[in-house]
Amino acid sequence: MTDTTANAMWGGRFAAGPDAIMEAINASIGFDKRLARQDIEGSRAHAAMLAAAGILSDSDASAIREGLLTVLSEIEGGTFEFSTALEDIHMNVEARLKQVIGEPAGRLHTARSRNDQVATDFRLWVREQCDAAILGLEALMRALLAQAEQGADWVMPGFTHLQTAQPVTWGHHMMAYVEMFARDRGRMMDARARMNESPLGAAALAGTSFPIDRHMTAEALGFDRPMANSLDAVSARDFALEFLSAASICAMHLSRFAEELVIWSSAQFRFVRLSDRFSTGSSIMPQKKNPDAAELIRAKIGRIFGANVALMMVMKGLPLAYSKDMQEDKEQVFDAADNLMLALAAMEGMVRDMTANREALERAAGSGFSTATDLADWLVRVLGLPFRDAHHVTGTLVAMAEGAGVDLPDLDLAQMQSVHPGITASIFEVLGVHNSVASRMSYGGTAPAQVRAQIARWKEILP
Ligand code: ARG
Repeated sequence: MTDTTANAMWGGRFAAGPDAIMEAINASIGFDKRLARQDIEGSRAHAAMLAAAGILSDSDASAIREGLLTVLSEIEGGTFEFSTALEDIHMNVEARLKQVIGEPAGRLHTARSRNDQVATDFRLWVREQCDAAILGLEALMRALLAQAEQGADWVMPGFTHLQTAQPVTWGHHMMAYVEMFARDRGRMMDARARMNESPLGAAALAGTSFPIDRHMTAEALGFDRPMANSLDAVSARDFALEFLSAASICAMHLSRFAEELVIWSSAQFRFVRLSDRFSTGSSIMPQKKNPDAAELIRAKIGRIFGANVALMMVMKGLPLAYSKDMQEDKEQVFDAADNLMLALAAMEGMVRDMTANREALERAAGSGFSTATDLADWLVRVLGLPFRDAHHVTGTLVAMAEGAGVDLPDLDLAQMQSVHPGITASIFEVLGVHNSVASRMSYGGTAPAQVRAQIARWKEILP
């Protein structure tokens, strides 16, 4: 239905209200109601500053600040009636404030515009999401550390091309993800630090002639400082893009790990058993236990990176300063943030609950000629062969074992000596997977002692 009355907030020059379609495309209240708390925080800081600067009387400012708390409790209590005709959260709150406190409500919007208001609200919201992501990542890292600690010396196959490459330790593999998620955490921290400047007081785009104190509102809202250019303050959305970029990279890491869990929990691998709490059954095949959480985490990158691309496209051609296009920034970020937090929590739960199958890991570690590199290294170290020759000798031995349908340690000494007469029985010491991993003591290597050192380091760093 078309409302024929002109908008109460900005309708002074309008004779008629908007077409219903116009109202539908214009309104953002359906989603930006999620900014209610930040909007009210920002308005309360603004009102206090206006009073301190002598622009607003103390009694008006306290009526506004009190009234805003009433509005907030109505919103949080679910009794607030949102109106599409009032377009967005800013005007919904202000209109209700007017009903609650009367005339002083009309003075709140002095020296401010919805342009700096929405930029402020959204920054506050995204800043909270950075904090939430940091906490989620830390919880996930702690879950991985617990896995790493338990299996610091459990051997498993390390893969390249998903072909058995060299034995590694379970702890080493878990700690590889700790490093990735630590960088994701660092990216969230960097993004948070960079976005922590206040747009409030930039007004529509040019600043204001009122003697406002932007440092005061910045400080009240926990920002490090006011943004230095009012045009930039209302135009910038790179803070949201930085969050989405960090979220996308994090989702990509989650997706890779999720893919490994899907593979590892299959009947063919049996490297891990996922808990009942994080698996589902099949409605037709009674034997099945599906890694649905891992699969869904694997898929989340689609919408999270999609949000990143979408907002990048919204912003790329916009002239300064504010354009209504920018209203389209929020839904993408809300969706990406919700799904990132959910994926982090689900991954943490899965990792906490999962049981690594030590025997299956060890069995797989020894197959596929995984210690061929150790054999070649032994030929270099003990017999002084050039590595290229050692590589060739080892290749011949692998072919021999493969032809006989056995693994390298199953060849006997005579067979080995037929390929290179210098080989002695001590070669068998490096063919075991435990010897193999223990020997990889280079910094960051897979040796249990190295892995334990990294676990200790991260336990120090993590709060
Ligand atoms: N709902 C708007 C948004 O989200 C608020 C800013 C409106 N500013 C304006 N000049 N129409 O972007």
